[in-house]
Amino acid sequence: MPAALLSTTHIRPLELKRAPHLTTSTAGLQDIAEKHITKGLGRLRDHVFKEGKGLREGRQLLDFSSGIGVTSLGHAHPDVTAAIIAQAQSIIHVQCAIALSEPYVQLVESLLAMMPDPSLDSFFFWNSGSEAIEAAIKVARTSTKRNNIIVMQGGYHGRTSGAAALTRSKTSFFSGTGPLMPCVYTTAFPYWHALGFPKDTPEDVLVDHAIMQVENLLQQQTAPEDTAAIFLEPVIGEGGYIPAPTRYVQHLRELCTKHGILLVADEIQTGFYRTGKPFAIEHSGVVPDVIVYAKGFANGMPISGIVTRKEIMDSMAPGSLGGTYSGNVVACAAALATTRYMRTHDIAANVNARSEQIFQGLKAIQEDTANGGWIIEEVRGKGLMVAMEFKDPQSKLTSKHHLGDNVKLPAYLSKLVQDACLDRGLLTLTTSIYPVLRMIPALILSEEEVDEMLRIMAESVKEVASKVETQARA
Ligand SMILES: Cc1ncc(COP(=O)(O)O)c(C=O)c1O
Repeated sequence: MPAALLSTTHIRPLELKRAPHLTTSTAGLQDIAEKHITKGLGRLRDHVFKEGKGLREGRQLLDFSSGIGVTSLGHAHPDVTAAIIAQAQSIIHVQCAIALSEPYVQLVESLLAMMPDPSLDSFFFWNSGSEAIEAAIKVARTSTKRNNIIVMQGGYHGRTSGAAALTRSKTSFFSGTGPLMPCVYTTAFPYWHALGFPKDTPEDVLVDHAIMQVENLLQQQTAPEDTAAIFLEPVIGEGGYIPAPTRYVQHLRELCTKHGILLVADEIQTGFYRTGKPFAIEHSGVVPDVIVYAKGFANGMPISGIVTRKEIMDSMAPGSLGGTYSGNVVACAAALATTRYMRTHDIAANVNARSEQIFQGLKAIQEDTANGGWIIEEVRGKGLMVAMEFKDPQSKLTSKHHLGDNVKLPAYLSKLVQDACLDRGLLTLTTSIYPVLRMIPALILSEEEVDEMLRIMAESVKEVASKVETQARA
């Protein structure tokens, strides 16, 4: 029941000659953005998004980015939109240090039912993924009374100060802003390119190498009794969509259990069915001590959080966690509607079916070398985190191709293919320091939308490869 309209007739309106002007034209908006919005934000194109439905932005653009894994039920899902409207008509801000709200507590109830293990039973909500990482750092340090944190080479955990200190995917996220939080140690992640191994190195060899590195780290740089947590993305996201091999995750679990170190799964990008299970770490059978989540569980409203065991969370003194907007009630209502949809629909079946269709289709494009597939080095990912790594002229590991050793390929073929896709109305993303194109579409995508993506991708790869071939012949 919407509340009665608020009356503010006692506030005198100003006698203005004209109502405040606001620009609506695309060119006008682009001009203001160019002049007045920070250059610290990268932007793919100056396209102005106005409306979205499902995987479509406006009438034409097919969105395989979902706002970087956020609109998991598609743009403007009616259940989520209705929940947002209803909540906004009731109350918009309930400060979490002042009182409880029904959506906040019901969200906890809903999430409890989705946890990979009943031991994960104590929650805290924040706004962004980075903030939730800050909370995880704080909880890990407080509860273990240890300072050091181990992170993965290539991992990404955010841009706020503590989260940036944990980030290892690109220096641009923190360059020039140091000194960052100390006591962070980096260990190898089993990924051939970052390890400098040939692409066809068996997974077991990569895992053995990564295990040796983390064991060494605990003996040479950060003693177990000084180490609070290991932060792991079960599928490295910003670093290039690389699934963590099961044996590696299980080994990290054993190490953590043996030494009383917390295993923190950063599921900000991988959580809530993105990889076909509620949480990606479930593919390995490992139960982490902490899960950090955000993005896809509120379909666009800003809310994030952590969950851990009650005895760990209860080490926090009242007031040590919080924030003005933490667990905003409208965002909670959106998350509640999103998780309700996920708990009442077979979202996993769609993710798995579409994932198989995508991987089959992209591998066929790669194998079609006569039509440009030779520029694709690897197709990889998990569920609906899909990446294509292209040949890399900087790397001895990937640069062999039929044009001969004296032909140097353009750097970042991924970007050229992304542009060619965008020209045809398909929105994809690039990522990592390697030439990687990634796709992270809404989980509700249809077979026809995948077919459309594959058609555009095949055309784009062919166009870029034939340009490269023409230039090589010139
Ligand atoms: C794995 C992971 N951790 C942390 C973050 C940071 O989240 P946010 O951008 O909401 O601060 C992201 C964002 O992309 C992410 O993918």
